[in-house]
Amino acid sequence: MPLFFKIESIIEYERKIEKAFQERYKHQPSIIVRSPGRVNIIGEHTDYNDGFVLPAAIDKAAYFAIALRDDDEIHLAAEDLNETFSASVNELKPVGDVSWPNYILGAAAQFQKLNIRLQGFNAVLCSDVPIGAGLSSSAAVECAVIFALNELLQTKLDKFTMVKMAQKTEHEFAGVMCGIMDMFASMMGKKDHVIKLDCRSLEYEYVPFKLEGIKIVLLNTNVKHSLASSEYNTRRAECMQAVEWVKQHELQVNSLRDVTEYMLDKYVLPKSKLIDSRSRFIVQEIQRLQQGCEDLKKGNINALGKEMFATHEGLSSLYDVSCRELDFLVDFVKNNDAVIGARMMGGGFGGCTINLVKENEIENLITAVQPAYEAAMNLPLTYYIAGIEEGTSII
Ligand code: GLA
Repeated sequence: MPLFFKIESIIEYERKIEKAFQERYKHQPSIIVRSPGRVNIIGEHTDYNDGFVLPAAIDKAAYFAIALRDDDEIHLAAEDLNETFSASVNELKPVGDVSWPNYILGAAAQFQKLNIRLQGFNAVLCSDVPIGAGLSSSAAVECAVIFALNELLQTKLDKFTMVKMAQKTEHEFAGVMCGIMDMFASMMGKKDHVIKLDCRSLEYEYVPFKLEGIKIVLLNTNVKHSLASSEYNTRRAECMQAVEWVKQHELQVNSLRDVTEYMLDKYVLPKSKLIDSRSRFIVQEIQRLQQGCEDLKKGNINALGKEMFATHEGLSSLYDVSCRELDFLVDFVKNNDAVIGARMMGGGFGGCTINLVKENEIENLITAVQPAYEAAMNLPLTYYIAGIEEGTSII
């Protein structure tokens, strides 16, 4: 059993997608864009509450090869799935169930919304960001497409505008009312740094994340419960409800970022225990991230690790977005000295846990957790050691 997955290098990917493009369209692509998936160290579900997040772009990415056409036709191929799709620039709308063409068509549609004239294109997509693992495979595609079209259409949009266009793609073509974290991390990532992003002002700071002898290990539950997107939108509505109740008394409050636990005790708890739990998690998580980020800057990784475990506890019991598979993995590593911190990551209801693990203990950890998980959950456990890489770029 190999300990590490084979990571296809960027050059290998470039060759693969170029060849696929040439075979399908009988000409070369004009450009190939690489846009990565992301991890988030701490600060979960805080982005759409105007809070902070601490994500980083990783060494798994979507690759998008494209060339403009002289007509209005869009021809797409998803190389990994061996599927194709065609559309016209004159009729861009979401198709069927959420599927890969939506991320591309939705991204193209954002240019039209800015009154930019779109022309047809041929494109090939491939990606090694696992789907449904909570690593933002869709944001990676959206950012790649928008970055590529910006280049070819010579629209000179800045990165902030492109990040917001990618977020709107997810809202309008995938129906998930996500925050801005995933796209921001994919587009703005920096090698060996996490991004402390203020989701209210979009001010950000790169914080070094090169920990001596410690690696980010992602344990993939290989489950994505169907609740994921509907419950996500429900959580968002529950947070807004809490804000509304507090705002009736505290006019200056616009989001959970402005709310304190004292306000929750006074205005939310008496009305609904459920809404109180949801909003209390967010208020605590915004504080926890601030503390965790300070700990990281001071090099106090053990304290950061404890905060990650506390985040998991809150996501599981107050915010209720975990599931038995994620809880199993966090519980399993909790008392293991090799694991400094662990928690579920992303929207929830499946996907990966993120673990900070002592490098020389990774193999032992995997050897212990894999059979235990597989026996208890009857699902395979896959894992990945994530490196922190640059954000979206042309290769
Ligand atoms: C998903 C969303 C993000 C964020 C996380 C939870 O990944 O796309 O915007 O809300 O869930 O932190």
